[in-house]
Amino acid sequence: MLSPERESLYRALMEKVGNTPLYQVSRIPIPNSNRIFAKEEWLNPTGSTFDRLYPYLFYTFEIEGKIVPGVTPVIEVTTGNAGASFAWCAAQLGYYDCTVIIHEDAPKARVEQIRSYGAKIIFSPSGQYAKGYVKLLEHILIEEKKRKGKKYGQDSEMMFCVTKINPRGTSVYKKLVDEVRSTLNGEKFDYYITAVGSGTSSTGIARYLKEWNKYTVVIAVDPEECPSTYHLKYKHRPIELVSLPHDVFGSASFGLPLSKLNIDLSVVDTVETVSKEERERAHKMLIEVEQKPVGRPSALVMAYALKLSQEVENKNIIICFSDPLWKYEDSYPYLK
Ligand SMILES: Cc1ncc(COP(=O)(O)O)c(C=O)c1O
Repeated sequence: MLSPERESLYRALMEKVGNTPLYQVSRIPIPNSNRIFAKEEWLNPTGSTFDRLYPYLFYTFEIEGKIVPGVTPVIEVTTGNAGASFAWCAAQLGYYDCTVIIHEDAPKARVEQIRSYGAKIIFSPSGQYAKGYVKLLEHILIEEKKRKGKKYGQDSEMMFCVTKINPRGTSVYKKLVDEVRSTLNGEKFDYYITAVGSGTSSTGIARYLKEWNKYTVVIAVDPEECPSTYHLKYKHRPIELVSLPHDVFGSASFGLPLSKLNIDLSVVDTVETVSKEERERAHKMLIEVEQKPVGRPSALVMAYALKLSQEVENKNIIICFSDPLWKYEDSYPYLK
């Protein structure tokens, strides 16, 4: 237990996140009497599902004595969304020495958002995506150890990575599934379609959906240009590419082995891919027809949900609207 003041600070923070709407897609025509529902995680305070995760991670590490507010410098890596949630929580909780590593070719709106919470930014090389920022983080932590002469996590003055790559982190997604259950009047989901990046939220949600209904089929979707989840599941090794091959930031962390991710492949029934053209078509429909200005991972899963709807009948499909369009401000010729 923390002090009563700290406990109530955490409670207040946790009350700000989650309880997002479950939206039934209603304007885009869906074939064969299928229904597509989207958990609107983009409506969380910083615009993603990771707002559910960081209050829990900070709380856990603080209880374990690994971090102390106002003392411990904290750090995290990101493609934008997790870093925003992390920096937002750090500021609210009094961790003012806060650093975020983000790849140099991330959209500028993401960098600005993270900065707005007072975090310092370090750029990892462009083109390398998650592999680049993980390598840079490891280097920084090794240097810290050399400088301070202590082991990682041993001293509260040592820099600590409040990382989403933590198997316990997936537990926060039970509440998301409970929210879904309470809105759906007992109806269950036949399919969950998800974009997988670090794995923490995507496979966490998958696990609790399956605990609720073991017949829910979980389909992970990769961008066709970068089938990284496919490689991890079926080829048992990460996909190696020399430069950032896709623009679905958040999904498909190529170049990283499973040991550096938090993906539970046992809850993923199958992995499919979607082409850029299919994603762009779905994205345009989400924005212009459905009036939901969401980001590219939402279009990735929506594109596959529409494809699946051609093949099955009278099914309930769940996806996430996982972040907003403004986080991709830079290149939208196909929406003009
Ligand atoms: C918008 C968005 N969707 C999906 C994902 C994938 O989630 P996870 O990393 O939990 O697998 C991410 C990860 O950053 C994301 O930012």
